[in-house]
Amino acid sequence: MPFQTDGMVIKNERIQSLYFLLGIYCPPIANQIKPGQFVMLKVSDDRAPFLRRPFSVYQSCPDPYPEKKKRGCLFILYKIVGKGTRKMTALEKGQKVDLIGPLGNGFTLPPLPSSASIILIGGGVGIASLYSLAEALKDRNLFVFIGGRTREDIFCVEDFKKLNSAIFIATEDGSLGVKGTVIDLFLTQRKKFNRRYRHYLYTCGPTAMFKTLSKSFNSKNFICQGSLETRMGCGFGACWGCVVKTNHPQTPYQRVCKEGPVFYLENILWE
Ligand SMILES: Cc1cc2nc3c(=O)[nH]c(=O)nc-3n(C[C@H](O)[C@H](O)[C@H](O)COP(=O)(O)OP(=O)(O)OC[C@H]3O[C@@H](n4cnc5c(N)ncnc54)[C@H](O)[C@@H]3O)c2cc1C
Ligand code: FES
Repeated sequence: MPFQTDGMVIKNERIQSLYFLLGIYCPPIANQIKPGQFVMLKVSDDRAPFLRRPFSVYQSCPDPYPEKKKRGCLFILYKIVGKGTRKMTALEKGQKVDLIGPLGNGFTLPPLPSSASIILIGGGVGIASLYSLAEALKDRNLFVFIGGRTREDIFCVEDFKKLNSAIFIATEDGSLGVKGTVIDLFLTQRKKFNRRYRHYLYTCGPTAMFKTLSKSFNSKNFICQGSLETRMGCGFGACWGCVVKTNHPQTPYQRVCKEGPVFYLENILWE
């Protein structure tokens, strides 16, 4: 069950260009949140913006976490895109923040043991919602595809490397890794994945990326889950401001904040 609680900022640092890492000490949420779930954060004490903003948790460190100083903390990796995220950059160490979580359904993990590969595809800041999943799956057969417009949009590669994953990078301007989109890159590599198994593909990024993936890719060899990032009002199922159209016979419009944010991509009807 989600709940509202206070946390305390432990760090809020620029990692590069428009990207920041916010650390919050908040054991009640850090102990419960699962990969793919999210929090609604009040980004400032000012009246505006009035609505909380949704963020995935990049990393959560529940009580028995090996690094003692991170225990009880959760980390949000965010990009400045507008007024709320700009205000977030002013949060200071020691400051109290108000958040609601854990929200949403989270990713369904692949069964254990399995010879199948696990493929993560992150576009832009979408990669932030995949790191906690990668941590949960470390030392499995992990392939991580990271994409962005330019090299400024590629980050956290070192964190993924520590999980013994194979990393593939694409930028649209070719300033880092292969030139093109991350989906182009994945499609060129797809023969790597043995056709005898069904592989698990997890993805997060802009809507255009999901649409391209769904169109260009109709393979029975991959079970694809995507974490969608729509604009949200309440974040907990009350306003129906975040719906997406699906092939569900009874309830075609599903709420990204409640039934999602993770959906099997084959069930989404892109408009
Ligand atoms: C489940 C979920 C998880 C998310 N996780 C992260 C995360 O880990 N890190 C991160 O940086 N961002 C994440 N986002 C997106 C984040 O919530 C928005 O960037 C943020 O709400 C923007 O607030 P703002 O006030 O700065 O922008 P606004 O001033 O409200 O808008 C600025 C611009 O950004 C666009 N925009 C705003 N919200 C979204 C959105 N949700 N999707 C697409 N475009 C949007 C607007 O259309 C507008 O063009 C997530 C969103 C969802 C739904
Ligand atoms: S944001 Fe209100 S129902 Fe999803």
